[in-house]
Amino acid sequence: MQIKLSSPLDMHLHLRDADMLKTVAPLSSYGFAGAIIMPNLVPPVTTTEALLAYKDRILSSTCRDKFEPLMTLFFKNDYSYEFLKKAKKHIFALKLYPSGITTNSDGGVSSMDIDLLRDTFETMSELNIPLLVHGETNGFVMDREMEFGSVYEQFASNFPNLKIVMEHITTAHSASLLDKYENLYATITLHHLLITLDDVAGGMLSPHLFCKPIAKRPEDRDALLKLALSAHPKVMFGSDSAPHPVDKKESCGCAAGVFTAPIALQALAMLFEKHKSLDKLQAFISDNARKIYGYKPIEKEVILENIPFTVPKSYKDVVPMFSAEKLPWSIKSVL
Ligand code: NCD
Ligand code: ZN
Repeated sequence: MQIKLSSPLDMHLHLRDADMLKTVAPLSSYGFAGAIIMPNLVPPVTTTEALLAYKDRILSSTCRDKFEPLMTLFFKNDYSYEFLKKAKKHIFALKLYPSGITTNSDGGVSSMDIDLLRDTFETMSELNIPLLVHGETNGFVMDREMEFGSVYEQFASNFPNLKIVMEHITTAHSASLLDKYENLYATITLHHLLITLDDVAGGMLSPHLFCKPIAKRPEDRDALLKLALSAHPKVMFGSDSAPHPVDKKESCGCAAGVFTAPIALQALAMLFEKHKSLDKLQAFISDNARKIYGYKPIEKEVILENIPFTVPKSYKDVVPMFSAEKLPWSIKSVL
């Protein structure tokens, strides 16, 4: 059997820089037509010059594949109207991180007080620049996303013209907010559709499944599955593929992030097939994102077929999800 996917999109991707970028970028650009590139480099991407230079480095790492990097700036609440107006043609969105909440987010926002964020949010609303949010507080790790829910509600209700994407949602509570606010959307990762906290820490510790936000309870995963498998029109695939070198993962003080870029399409096919929902995969992997962002991707046709794919143990020094395991679907061709 074969499945044809038209212009798959990854609406949340970490490509890093330098050698890591060269290793991982081709693994996304091969099967995806475009991806939203996260700005949490060291230092974070906060200027147009840095953003354009990073975009060039990405494009020169993608082996001439048909692939569009959709660039983001690291959110700061002191960007001026003039700056954002000028930068707008180069940026797809702004990404807001609470300070210190995840990898390379130290320069993030230290207060979610809307009075402090108002000017920037109003500018973004006016200029039609979407706001992407890493929604976690610094509370107890299992409750962080739920606690952030009230912040999402405040943002959404106070700035009805601002397009807000709850990135990598992991809870049934976040899922429930989608139908409450017209201007709230969400990305969902592959790993949060597959695993719960049990897979991370219920038996032997699995550092390669450790990420932020941490995987939650079975009922949370089920709520995410319900959204993805029905291709709820307000959800999009965002892998949050977040590579770290093996010595940073298999170590005391494991870095957060699951590396899924090279196996995402094959594993999504497996998951959607298992739930008899393959007819919904195109919407989840591309069509919803096109509509939500009003974005027309580069044309690309990816054919998957149900011939087993043995996942490499590692790609240079990065270990992917399903390392050395067999997935039932492989990529047959890309046109
Ligand atoms: C991401 C990273 O490593 O950059 N890590 C993660 O666990 N997801 C950052 C992020 O998206 O939180
Ligand atoms: Zn991320």
